[in-house]
Amino acid sequence: MRPARLLAALVVLGWPIALSAATHGYPLLDADTDVSSLASLQRGARNVVNYCLGCHSARFMRYSQVATDLALTEEELRDNLMFTGMRVYDTMLTSMPPEQAREWFGNVPPDLSLIARSRGVDYVYTYLKSFYGDPSRPTGANNAVLANTVMPYVLAGLQGVQQPRYEEKPGSNGESVRHLAGLESGTPGELSAEEFDGFVRDTVTFLEYVSEPAKAQRRSLGVWVILYLLMFTAFTYFLKKEYWKDVK
Ligand code: HEC
Repeated sequence: MRPARLLAALVVLGWPIALSAATHGYPLLDADTDVSSLASLQRGARNVVNYCLGCHSARFMRYSQVATDLALTEEELRDNLMFTGMRVYDTMLTSMPPEQAREWFGNVPPDLSLIARSRGVDYVYTYLKSFYGDPSRPTGANNAVLANTVMPYVLAGLQGVQQPRYEEKPGSNGESVRHLAGLESGTPGELSAEEFDGFVRDTVTFLEYVSEPAKAQRRSLGVWVILYLLMFTAFTYFLKKEYWKDVK
């Protein structure tokens, strides 16, 4: 009986440790997104169109739906988010053919429609903020979260090129192993550190919306549902009192 209990306790205690190991050790930052902010979503949509759709698609999303959900007029939609020759009911597809991408990068850029849900918003936020200069890589860049990623450092112009900080740690055989301890700002980019964080946060907010367009709506609906239930509870309580007042 005892050893079985001990085993059960170990499994229960070990579970969170196993889960945290799944992030490969590099700590994820808090994306702190707000999908109910129209302004953030609108900026994010512009960022994604200008900086991501060159390689990635969001093929489950139509421009027309983005316009409706983000309160944009058709004119604003055409001026800010669409390139010439596109139709309002088109889905957000990249113009880069997959064979071309594979040839250039060695891997096809994943579709971004569900990426915020499959990887998590904190992951996508940290990934976009964790590129750094690495001359040993074909793209000249590497990533702290996804080591040896083939995605180029596309936001280097805005962020500047970050530099890695390494630490020496003893390896399993006692030899010293170089290990990425963190990132430091290197050459400056067009945006300040806070502005860049805002840029990435808006981008991730839009991707979060794309992965579940009804989320913001569902949250605001939820408030009304709870209010209704509270009022209904009060109403039934008084009704009960009324019915039972003569029965003593
Ligand atoms: C020049 C082409 C290019 C552009 C522009 C680009 N990406 Fe990528 N992206 C890639 C490729 C290629 C991969 C596959 C990476 C790999 O497998 O290592 C990728 C992978 C990703 C991943 C998945 C990472 C993972 O864990 O598998 C995310 C998230 C992502 N990109 C987001 C973005 C966002 C957001 C933008 C716009 C700010 C963007 N990308 C712009 C080429 C690009």
